[in-house]
Amino acid sequence: MTSKRNILVTGGLGFIGSHTVLCLHEAGYCPVIIDNLHNSRMEVLNALTELLGYRPEFIEGDVNDGQLLDTLFQQYQFDAVIHFAAHKAVGESVEQPLMYYRNNVVGLVSLLESMQKAGCNRMVFSSSCTVYGEPESVPVKESTPTRPAASPYGATKQMAEVILKDNGWCSIQCLRYFNPVGAHPTAKIGELPLGIPNNLIPFLTQTVAGIREKLTVYGGDYSTSDGTCIRDYIHVMDLAEAHVSAIDRLFLENKSTPETPGDPSKGHFEVFNIGTGVGYSVLEVINAFEATTGEQVNYAIGDRRAGDVVAVWADTEKVNSVLGWKAKRNLETMMRDAWNWQKNC
Ligand code: UD1
Repeated sequence: MTSKRNILVTGGLGFIGSHTVLCLHEAGYCPVIIDNLHNSRMEVLNALTELLGYRPEFIEGDVNDGQLLDTLFQQYQFDAVIHFAAHKAVGESVEQPLMYYRNNVVGLVSLLESMQKAGCNRMVFSSSCTVYGEPESVPVKESTPTRPAASPYGATKQMAEVILKDNGWCSIQCLRYFNPVGAHPTAKIGELPLGIPNNLIPFLTQTVAGIREKLTVYGGDYSTSDGTCIRDYIHVMDLAEAHVSAIDRLFLENKSTPETPGDPSKGHFEVFNIGTGVGYSVLEVINAFEATTGEQVNYAIGDRRAGDVVAVWADTEKVNSVLGWKAKRNLETMMRDAWNWQKNC
């Protein structure tokens, strides 16, 4: 029997990381988590233990700690890394840009240095559709030119992509997430925003749960069918499964495509949009939530939020055909699972 491949999952107790840990295990990989608990909680490790039937390897630590990383690479001989650990709040990044550059950019460099020293040359990286900015046309393809970032957070994702592209010794699957929502169907893990949520779904579910008074819909006068912004919401389990497909692909001998003719002995940088390919407006999301759960959402149309793009959703042709991954869960499932998770919190 061949031994399982060890995968280092940075930020593995976070929202997307924790769901990915489950999917990696199911696919026969051995996930090892490093997380500094900055935006996550130990309870997630307990929930993962329950769901997995064993306690996954967990190291409390920071990707900026090069010494710790070097020790871990020696100890576990990682076959690949999935790098989630990063800050992700747009507004906070405007207030504390250095914190974002240190964690999201310097942390990546520190991780790559340890990987290079240890001879580990495979990585899946968490990027974001934020790199497209306000696109000229939708859906956006991976080849759509990126736009100047509207926030330090967006800038860190763009810089990270450049850094990764420049490191030709490493094979990279760069996943540009659209809007991850939902939760594990057991409602044992989900999104755990600390403080007042910035994102739509946690704010919506907390409003229905009575934790927030009212949901403000940011702008009702955009040039969309109902005046509210359009996004490509994707179930976190679909997103987690995309990471397994990306890891599988890193272990393929020959990853050549017409777009990226690969020499398998060299590094290989590929970008994929991870979305459903369907855009929904904020009001459509609220309606879907109400129809699925039978709950009323107390909301009002308010002012536009600075920095919001009007409409963005993914062209998924490349990810469907090259990565062989396709989102399976619809908006109703996203709303059901998000609500079940909120009720369980
Ligand atoms: C933002 C970032 C994205 C990042 C994500 C992670 C940009 C352009 N987008 O996504 O890169 O990965 O956060 O946190 O930088 N809305 C309301 N009321 C609310 C909250 C949101 O109406 O209380 C609306 C927004 O205007 C938007 C939609 O809901 O149209 C989704 O917003 P949100 O969940 O915050 O995600 P994004 O801004 O799309």
